[in-house]
Amino acid sequence: MYHKKLDDFPKDFLWGAASAAYQIEGGYDADGKGASVWDNFTKIPGKTFEGTNGDVAVDHYNRYKEDVKLMADMGLKAYRFSVSWSRILPEGTGEINEAGLLFYENLIDELNKNHIEPVLTLYHWDIPQALQDKYNGWESRQVIEDFDTYARVLFERFKDKVKYWVSFNEQNVFTAMGYRWEAHPPSIPDVKKMFEANHIINLANAKAINSFHEIVPDGMIGPSFGYGPMYAFDCDPENVLAELNGEEFQNHWWLDVYIHGKYPKVTFKHLDRLGIAPTIEEGDLALLQSAKPDFLGVNYYHGGTVRANEIERPMEKEEADLEKSFEATDPYLMKPKDEQAQSPETMMFTNVNNPYLEKTAWGWEIDPVGIRIALRRLQNRYDIPMMITENGLGAYDELTDDKRVEDDYRIEYLKTHVEEIQKAITDGVDLIGYCAWSFTDLLSWLNGYKKRYGFVYIDRDEYSEKNLERIPKKSYYWYKKVIETNGREL
Ligand code: BG6
Repeated sequence: MYHKKLDDFPKDFLWGAASAAYQIEGGYDADGKGASVWDNFTKIPGKTFEGTNGDVAVDHYNRYKEDVKLMADMGLKAYRFSVSWSRILPEGTGEINEAGLLFYENLIDELNKNHIEPVLTLYHWDIPQALQDKYNGWESRQVIEDFDTYARVLFERFKDKVKYWVSFNEQNVFTAMGYRWEAHPPSIPDVKKMFEANHIINLANAKAINSFHEIVPDGMIGPSFGYGPMYAFDCDPENVLAELNGEEFQNHWWLDVYIHGKYPKVTFKHLDRLGIAPTIEEGDLALLQSAKPDFLGVNYYHGGTVRANEIERPMEKEEADLEKSFEATDPYLMKPKDEQAQSPETMMFTNVNNPYLEKTAWGWEIDPVGIRIALRRLQNRYDIPMMITENGLGAYDELTDDKRVEDDYRIEYLKTHVEEIQKAITDGVDLIGYCAWSFTDLLSWLNGYKKRYGFVYIDRDEYSEKNLERIPKKSYYWYKKVIETNGREL
């Protein structure tokens, strides 16, 4: 849609920035904190870049006041952060660690005092190690109860201080990284387990949302989903079909459950045929349907382009004969079932390069129009208020001798994305806020400290904590102006 004149951003638009506990806090065992799976995983040789971990991270645990002061000076309207479950319940369940609660309470008070809306994420990937050891974490239904207990502790304590809550951060990412790609804990390559654990997380999400509505009736809660819109490589109908498959398998598989409480039929049937669909017990669907998020958090970095996989094309005769050795009548089975089950998307689509898009130094596509497409598709299908809970550029930054970071490339990235957001709002999308990733530089889970996202440079690297000095980058002053003018000056 072409607009001659764009709408202004809503008057109370939440211009924000985001972070996650493990990536910034440090203080990994301070004041009674228990270990999380990330505390242990990062210590396994070879798992992270140069063996980096979050033991100290950017020391936000000790420097949160200084960080909030920088936010306030910038004029930030919202700050999204996550709570570390094992700071609150060191064993995952049982005894509450008051010192842990107090840390977040102080942070929240500091934010409120400075008129910065706290956006609290309950879970950003750091399940307590104790629960992993006790019952394999997200693989056991016991975790539904335990997560709810943890969430209730936070709801009760902060119900009058925090209005916006995120339940799970990027469930699609942490389940795939943990159970398919062995890149995150628990590092188990088993697709069946991934879908089973994912279903249990859906139930935990639903139960916690219901508890929230009981305890914090005036607040708003929703999951943050890592959404990447799928594009068809071209208008060959086979490729359009592949796009449909990709969108359903990569996105609707989670989003339909969050918003409508049910799995998309086509993908469910496909996974069922391969023997990897999740086990649905009596009462599960009723629970999923009973929980309605108040908004959807959208983490947007890039989408993906797909085309039909060759194996979906008609087979040559010899191939077809060979097939008969597997399953007499089922052309669905091109390879033995268990092999196919390891990559269920093979039958649905294949990822290809998008020739129209540039990439970051880490190979992530840069696609500002994609954020508008994302918001439009989501508005269209789910019709729910949304908040961009992450969007940003990971880049190498250079600190000059006189302590400046001229990150014009980051400004360009954010500016072009915010422009597309404004177009989406003008189109009619219901967007309540935008949280850039990230406020300060922080630990990139697998890429150490060299892949920087922040408005504020942190003087440390993989090899030394140096002095952890905070240095606002050029983008910090750019965003300050954006906020001041409510997006009129980009
Ligand atoms: C998102 C996560 O997936 O991407 C963040 O929610 C993460 O925690 C961000 O840091 C960027 O990822 P990376 O790998 O570039 O640090």
